[in-house]
Amino acid sequence: MWDDLKTHAARVQGLSIAALFEADPRRAADFSVTVDDMLFDYSKTSIDEQSRGALCALVRDADLATRRDRMFEGHPINETEGRAVLHTALRNPEGGPVLVDGQDVMPGVREGLARMETLAWEIRGSDVRDVVNIGIGGSDLGPAMAVRALAPYHNGPRCHFVSNVDGADIADTLALCDPETTLFIVASKTFTTIETMTNARTAKAWMKKTGVDPEARLVALSSDLEKAKDFGVPEDRVLGFGDWVGGRYSMWGPIGLSLMIAIGPENFRAFLRGGRAMDQHFRSAEPQANMPVMLALVGLWHAQVLGYATRAVLPYDDRLARLPAYLQQLEMESNGKSVAMDGSALQVDSGPIVWGEPGTNGQHAFFQLIHQGTRIVPCEFMLAARGHEPELQHHHALLVANCLAQSEALMRGRTLEQAREKVAGKFSGDELERQARHRVFPGNRPSTTLIYPLLDPETLGRIIALYEHRVFVEGVVLGINSFDQWGVELGKELATALGPMVTGEAPIEGKDGSTTQLLNYVHRSGRI
Ligand code: F6P
Repeated sequence: MWDDLKTHAARVQGLSIAALFEADPRRAADFSVTVDDMLFDYSKTSIDEQSRGALCALVRDADLATRRDRMFEGHPINETEGRAVLHTALRNPEGGPVLVDGQDVMPGVREGLARMETLAWEIRGSDVRDVVNIGIGGSDLGPAMAVRALAPYHNGPRCHFVSNVDGADIADTLALCDPETTLFIVASKTFTTIETMTNARTAKAWMKKTGVDPEARLVALSSDLEKAKDFGVPEDRVLGFGDWVGGRYSMWGPIGLSLMIAIGPENFRAFLRGGRAMDQHFRSAEPQANMPVMLALVGLWHAQVLGYATRAVLPYDDRLARLPAYLQQLEMESNGKSVAMDGSALQVDSGPIVWGEPGTNGQHAFFQLIHQGTRIVPCEFMLAARGHEPELQHHHALLVANCLAQSEALMRGRTLEQAREKVAGKFSGDELERQARHRVFPGNRPSTTLIYPLLDPETLGRIIALYEHRVFVEGVVLGINSFDQWGVELGKELATALGPMVTGEAPIEGKDGSTTQLLNYVHRSGRI
């Protein structure tokens, strides 16, 4: 299969994307997928009819349909941890029974959502003015990204997010808050994560110092109810969820509480509805008409077939500023692996490096490299056709024009002949030639665009579910378990062992020269 795709890759090396449009007037429509009012356009890539056929064969070969159904049905598809993967159940509260180990999880999903709503209403109606979510990774990035994305829908208290164990993070946040009117949400699936527990203890100490009873100001979101209660969170303020909710897939349930408090339960339900709509589409559409499948296949084409090591996520939607960070965890923690589900070495590269920034800011930072650098970076543009600021439509028109201009420029480029014409009036002879060369754009650089009417809660839900399923499809094709994360363990173990050496409670022993030198530097710099 991969060999077949490599043959296609060799064939398209000489093809120009612009020429594909000239040869096929229907290309834009044929190489796009729509779901309701959302359009994913991948026509500005080198994928043609034949290579798309070969890509679609990948998902058939991997028996995607069966594996997808097994996920939705609650089978333990996270095989290294023996767990089901059911974040989809969280966004389908009215759905039929889903059995995990013979037990229907849906009554618990409905009860969990009802408890979240009761608590959210209570907090929104109280004297709480600031909500601080303390969590990291999946217990932070989802709600932090979504709270920012849905700012126009905020009608609750201010939300802050503290994740880093660097004391600067919590110190700067506490400086904005009044202990009398601040609520802390300790969000941790395991309730053992060192960063989160350290920050939670600091928050507790801050409350106590100012005479506030922490019990009255703490909420916990966790799979480990006992640990949350032991931490001093009253039982009715602990919201639990099953181990079948992966950390980076958890914003649809209790981990989304801060979002629900910010935008209100009705808007949160709209967010769930959006996710569910994408699930239904993913389960029913044929590969070529299936948005998550095609998004995944375009990703595989660029990373695994053509060998492009990174992909840029470029939301021309400032409120999606945290989306690249969110997707870094979602994609790289899920598919950044070297071993297939069966323990064998992966036959092709694992998932690419994901990075990005909102447009137009990125244009004034790293787009130079994307346009003229020696490496090719496939770009994923995202764009809302409308903004939320009717009085600032001229801003939005400029935003749209810039987004479309970038994908056009990446594809078209500028030839040496055109560059010569640009500088002809200013230079002549050798200097003209030299100046012209600097103004050449190779072009033929791939990009996709996801366009939607407006970034409302339902649309955000569709976008997040779209990317989740993209990760799933890529994982299935690569043979990866997208739902474990063993690669984060070693660093955690070593940090625990290093802690006493940093503080001087243990001698510096058994460390390499570099680590020893760095520890000594810290010691020389004064008390920790
Ligand atoms: O980074 C590793 C990880 O386990 C993530 O998968 C997870 O989202 C994060 O840590 C936080 O874990 P927890 O919610 O258990 O605190």
